[in-house]
Amino acid sequence: MESIKVFSPASVSNVGPGFDIMGFALHQPGDEVIVKKSNLNKIEITKISGDNGRLPLNPNENTTTVGIQSLLKDQNINVGLKIEIHKKMGIGSGLGSSAASAVAGVFAVNSLLNLNLSNDELLKHCMAGEYVASKAFHADNVAPALYGGFILIRDYNPIDIIKIDLPSDLYCSILYPDIEIKTCEARKILKPNVKLKTAISQAGNSAGLIVGFMKNDFELISRSLVDHLAEPFRSKLIPGYDKIRDAALNVGAINCNITGSGPSMFAFSTSESDALKIVRAMKNASSKFTKSNKTYVSKINLTGPKIL
Ligand code: HSE
Repeated sequence: MESIKVFSPASVSNVGPGFDIMGFALHQPGDEVIVKKSNLNKIEITKISGDNGRLPLNPNENTTTVGIQSLLKDQNINVGLKIEIHKKMGIGSGLGSSAASAVAGVFAVNSLLNLNLSNDELLKHCMAGEYVASKAFHADNVAPALYGGFILIRDYNPIDIIKIDLPSDLYCSILYPDIEIKTCEARKILKPNVKLKTAISQAGNSAGLIVGFMKNDFELISRSLVDHLAEPFRSKLIPGYDKIRDAALNVGAINCNITGSGPSMFAFSTSESDALKIVRAMKNASSKFTKSNKTYVSKINLTGPKIL
C-alpha cells in the first residue's frame, strides 16, 4: 500500500462532571487525513483544506504531523511521508477538532506502515499531537476518537483507559454556535483549587453518570450530568447558554451541557426523533445570539477511526 485515507471522528469531552476524564465519539462530523509514502525522506504537509488557511503547514507545529513524528521516533522509523489534512469541523469548536486530526494521522501511519500497534500503544502519540493545540496533556478527546465509544480516563499517571458500556438507544444532539473558543484560553479561566464539598459533589456526579450509563438509568444520567469545575465559568463564554440549555430541556432532553471547552453544546435523548426536535429547539434559541450555527445529531460512534 502506497497511500491511505482515514476518517477520525469528532468527540464530546468532559460530558458534564468528567472534566478531562470522560468523552465519547460521534459519527459526524470528523476529519480526513491522507498519508502517502514519499522518496523525499521527510514528513511534509502538502495540503490542508477546510481551515481557511489557519493551521500550520510546518510539520513541527501541526497536531497531525506532531503525532506522526512522535510515533515514528518511538518506533525508530525513518520514512518520507506526504500528508493532506481535510478539516470537516471548525477549529475551536469544542468537538475535538485537533484530536480528530491527530488520531487520523497516527492511525493512518500505523496502518500504512503495517506497524500493528494497539490503541494503547498509539494513544500517547495522539496525545502528543493534541498537546500542540491545547497546550495540555488531556486524553478526553483523543481517546474516544481513537478507541470509539465512551471512554473514562481513570488516571493519567499511568494512563488508565476504561471503555464504558452505553444504552444502545442513546442519541446526542449538538449545537455548534458560530464562535471560536480556544481550549488553552478556556483552561486559564478555571479555578486551580476547588473546595472539598465541590470535589465530593463532582465525584458523586461522575460516579452517578457512569453507573447511569451502565444500568440504562436515564433518570440517574440526567441528575448526574452536573459540572462544578468548568460549566460555571465557560458557560459565560457562550452567548445565550442558559436559554439554549433550557430550550433543550423543555423539549425533553435528558440533560444538556458544554462539549469540551465549548462553544458547542450537547444534549442526550433516547430516540432520533427526540434528538432532532432537541437540536431544532437549540438552534432556534441560539439564533437570537449567534448566526450560522451548525447542528449535528449522532448516536455514539462505537468504532472510532475508519479507513476510507
Ligand atoms: N477536557 C478539555 C477541557 C477538553 O475541557 O479543557 C478540551 O476539548
